[in-house]
Amino acid sequence: MAKQDFLSLLDFPIEDLDYLIHRGKQMRKMHEAGETYRPLVGKTGGLIMQMSSTRTRVAFEAGFAQMGGHALFLGTQETQIGRGEPISDLARVLSEMVDIIMIRTLEQTHIEELAEQASIPVINAMSSLLHPCQLLADIQTYEELRGPIAGATVAFIGDGYNMCHSYINAARQWGFNLKIASPEGFLPNAEILDSTNNATLVATPQEAVSGSDLVVTDVWSSMGHEGQEADRRATFADYQVNEALLDEANKDVVFMHCLPAHRGEEVSETLLDDPRAAVFHEAGNRLHSQKALVEFLLLGKQ
Ligand code: CP
Repeated sequence: MAKQDFLSLLDFPIEDLDYLIHRGKQMRKMHEAGETYRPLVGKTGGLIMQMSSTRTRVAFEAGFAQMGGHALFLGTQETQIGRGEPISDLARVLSEMVDIIMIRTLEQTHIEELAEQASIPVINAMSSLLHPCQLLADIQTYEELRGPIAGATVAFIGDGYNMCHSYINAARQWGFNLKIASPEGFLPNAEILDSTNNATLVATPQEAVSGSDLVVTDVWSSMGHEGQEADRRATFADYQVNEALLDEANKDVVFMHCLPAHRGEEVSETLLDDPRAAVFHEAGNRLHSQKALVEFLLLGKQ
């Protein structure tokens, strides 16, 4: 099987993305039924984490364990990565020892370099530019709750950062209408935005949520924004998603957040507990969608 990487949602044709969503749903059902499924016996994943993670790490580690394989956590401090071993050397070393690499690091170019040098599949476990694994879970969640996302209207409120960029790529791939409300100075990357007619900037959060089937936000200060928290709290003050804002969306709106959330900042204290919020179902789908992704990259379609 030819090596394939997952660095961006744009790496796969829509047929393969749809397969992954379908397979993620099956993985969820199998897990809930207590079914044993161990196709990865003897397979190892190298999980390079240069930034903190709960969901992504647990999903890969638990997912490998459940499928009979093993994910090795490779933190910056515990390995030679923190002492400056070149990415190209790391890629070649890991290619000798493991079957797939998952990497979280700020620079998307470092992930691309790793993938170029590695002879095994590489998964982007989040960079400052993109978070494609999160989108697999989000699309799966929406489709489990409401059906096909194609043709739906989605509002993204807040920082035009990695989650927003991946939503733009998702709108382009799945054919939904994305309305983005971000403060001046925090707009998404223009090249990514201009790559599709399916994503548009709007002036206010109210304009974004009006007529929306799905509303999404993210923290105001992501990893990489350390030291900017106070300034950003002031800039984003009008961009909080709360119950009153959701009331302006479609009646059966779903709310999602990749988590961790800062209650009282980008979301009200109580929004995650609102019946319209699907954030814990969404978090659970990180496990099932990443199992589907690893299985696909290592074993192909099942
Ligand atoms: N949403 C997400 O990627 O969570 P973690 O940072 O905890 O992995």
